[in-house]
Amino acid sequence: MKALILSGGKGTRLRPLTYTGAKQLVPVANKPILWYGIESLVAAGITDIGIVVSPETGAEIEAKTGAGDRFGATITYIHQASPDGLAHAVKIAQPFLGDAPFVMYLGDNLIQDGLADFVADFQQKPRGAIIMLKQVVNPTAFGVAQIAADGSVIKLVEKPQNPPSNLALVGVYLFSPEIHQAIAQIKPSARGELEITDAIQQLIATHQPVEAKELTGWWLDTGKKDDLLEANRIILDEYVLRPNVLGKVDEHSKVSGRVVIGKGSQLVNCTVRGPVVIGENCQLENCFVGSYTSIADSVSMSNIEIDHSVVLKGANISGIHRRIVDSLIGERAKLTVSEHRPKALRFMVGDDSTIELT
Ligand code: TTP
Repeated sequence: MKALILSGGKGTRLRPLTYTGAKQLVPVANKPILWYGIESLVAAGITDIGIVVSPETGAEIEAKTGAGDRFGATITYIHQASPDGLAHAVKIAQPFLGDAPFVMYLGDNLIQDGLADFVADFQQKPRGAIIMLKQVVNPTAFGVAQIAADGSVIKLVEKPQNPPSNLALVGVYLFSPEIHQAIAQIKPSARGELEITDAIQQLIATHQPVEAKELTGWWLDTGKKDDLLEANRIILDEYVLRPNVLGKVDEHSKVSGRVVIGKGSQLVNCTVRGPVVIGENCQLENCFVGSYTSIADSVSMSNIEIDHSVVLKGANISGIHRRIVDSLIGERAKLTVSEHRPKALRFMVGDDSTIELT
């Protein structure tokens, strides 16, 4: 069994961050979302992993993630010239996949359920594919499945106006090698992409059973800001199990709950309420850091309050008089106030940025 992680794409919904970096590398609890997927595959015994990357972000993903040693895996990078769809990514990965069955994992998704049972089930009882489903409140925004009483899939529809169920297609799939013939039969959709839903529909049309499994745990798709903040909240809750303070905290600071502070970081007169992760070589002075906040390496913050937010590497935030909440602050972004009572706001904000004064 092999695995194929899709880590190319355009990332339009996470602009402006994705102008300069891969969305799959945006950290959640200070670790790239992509790495959780790799770890989950390795935990299920799959160590031969291909990662599909785009020309824009491939080098960054490869440099950061490496050949797989740190995960106990072997990683092969597969270059997709343009983001022509999920099924197109499988098509160009065929030389890597050969005739092995494989798990396909979207690099900006994460599921709580372990993969080992699904993999064992698929190996014992081969079929066309296993897809994963999760109940959602807004099925019109997803690929949705219509399921028979025995769990087999009757039909898949992309973003339906009249959804046949509230079961959305999650970004993790198990495929038999027959998927390659199915992909060879389909044509690009109206949006010009080779759709994996069409390829799965083709499997069904050629009488290859496709079975659906409903997930019991959470499913995160981090392709948008609020989803990323939610992923950060859940992961801080589930992965940060105990405090671990390696940096320096002065006697005027109060650190409570599950708080991780990396080495080389210094906190002066700060209050931190876990779960919180603070990376290495950060400088924090006179700050309140509330629950569900992740602060990456080399961040400077002074005289601010921040809560339920993600701050990326090298950002500098000081003197903001209102609490910063539900925010995603990009690498090396600078948010400062130069006077005690500012009379004006002065911005230099990148394309597609959002500023909300609430
Ligand atoms: P999506 O989030 O569906 O697409 P996208 O990355 O283009 O994002 P947006 O809608 O914000 O523009 O893709 C799911 C995952 O699959 C993501 O990790 C990117 C990856 N992908 C590829 O590797 N190749 C592709 O051709 C496409 C469409 C996506």
